[in-house]
Amino acid sequence: MQKTILITGGAGFIGSHVVRRFVNRYPEYRIVNLDALTYAGNLENLKDIENAPNYQFVKGDITDGDFIQKLFQEYHFDGVLHLAAESHVDRSISNPMEFIMTNIVGTVNLLNTAREIWKDDYPGKRFYHISTDEVYGSLGATGFFTETTSYDPQSPYSASKASSDHLVRAYHNTYGLPVVISNCSNNYGPNQFPEKLIPLAINNIKNNKPIPIYGKGENIRDWLYVEDHARAIDLIFHDGKQGETYNIGGNNEWTNIALIRTLCKVMDIKLEREPGTSEQLITFVKDRAGHDLRYAIDSSRLMNELGWKPSLQFEEGIEKTVNWYLENQEWLENIVNGTYENYYREMYGNR
Ligand code: NAD
Ligand code: DAU
Repeated sequence: MQKTILITGGAGFIGSHVVRRFVNRYPEYRIVNLDALTYAGNLENLKDIENAPNYQFVKGDITDGDFIQKLFQEYHFDGVLHLAAESHVDRSISNPMEFIMTNIVGTVNLLNTAREIWKDDYPGKRFYHISTDEVYGSLGATGFFTETTSYDPQSPYSASKASSDHLVRAYHNTYGLPVVISNCSNNYGPNQFPEKLIPLAINNIKNNKPIPIYGKGENIRDWLYVEDHARAIDLIFHDGKQGETYNIGGNNEWTNIALIRTLCKVMDIKLEREPGTSEQLITFVKDRAGHDLRYAIDSSRLMNELGWKPSLQFEEGIEKTVNWYLENQEWLENIVNGTYENYYREMYGNR
């Protein structure tokens, strides 16, 4: 039977990999990509599948409850994969309200509408909320986040995501909405907006600009290649247990400074520069306010129950990532000079 699946935030970094995977792997699904095309949404990410017969793009804002209701009435979605969010911690520190609106109010609009339209007729339906490991707060030098770790979000971004996770669980516990949640560590790979550490550093190295490292660069993140996240999302959407949470991580911890030094070495080789050239661009700057020290995920539940594991070693993933950014310089330049926004604004209008 054909199913109609809503993917929110599909023009963004992770969403575009999820949309591509679902469109290519599941011709029997009709995939509707709903995205407001904020600064982070870029339909160039989906050029290769934009004419696929089972794919449709809809421009719209999840904070607009009437619009979301009409969309559900029109398409009768069987499943929702909810990725749309404001996602950058630094932006949440300077402008928290957008995070409250999209990440909390937007999520509640989707939950309310799913509940209303599905009218307790839940067999075959699923609401999948994609979230972050940042909801758990910060680890010290040892230990891992598990699915039972208490929430302790520190930034407006992580507090807004924590709030949306709680609301998704509340709709399951109170109304029986068929939900599943995952919390993932730091992603990297093609199509990531160059405000995030890895693409920002690649772009700056290419242009001989300083690489800003917050504080002493001793904060630790657990990095996962984005296609491994998309594969986990596919598995959890299809086989995850109703009402449950799955942690997703790369088992791949790096201090920021060690990661950037490794990236600099790869960039020196790719750009045929003298060894050590790119490292000279490293510049220590003022620390991020409330900067979490360490994230590390225990993904054993996902591995044991659903048979997932990361497919790429970090060295391979970072090489693939650098190659992609160097081979797609136009993608990066269109973002840096704003061309992508103007082009799609003309096509779809302002937000
Ligand atoms: P992103 O910023 O690259 O993309 C977000 C997308 O959501 C954009 O296309 C944007 O246009 C869209 N969007 C924003 N506000 C919207 C609104 N009001 N209505 C409709 N669309 C809207 O984000 P990402 O890094 O791809 O993250 C996707 C999801 O995964 C987020 O929920 C994020 O919290 C979560 N996550 C991200 C990471 C990571 O490392 N990037 C890790 C774990 C979880
Ligand atoms: O852990 C999952 C989260 O990972 C996601 O939920 C977020 O959406 C995603 O943005 C990411 O959050 P981080 O804050 O960890 O990512 P970011 O790339 O902004 O920063 C990674 C680390 O690098 C962090 O310790 C801050 C540091 N940093 C970042 C930037 C942008 C720098 O030192 N310099 C920088 O210029």
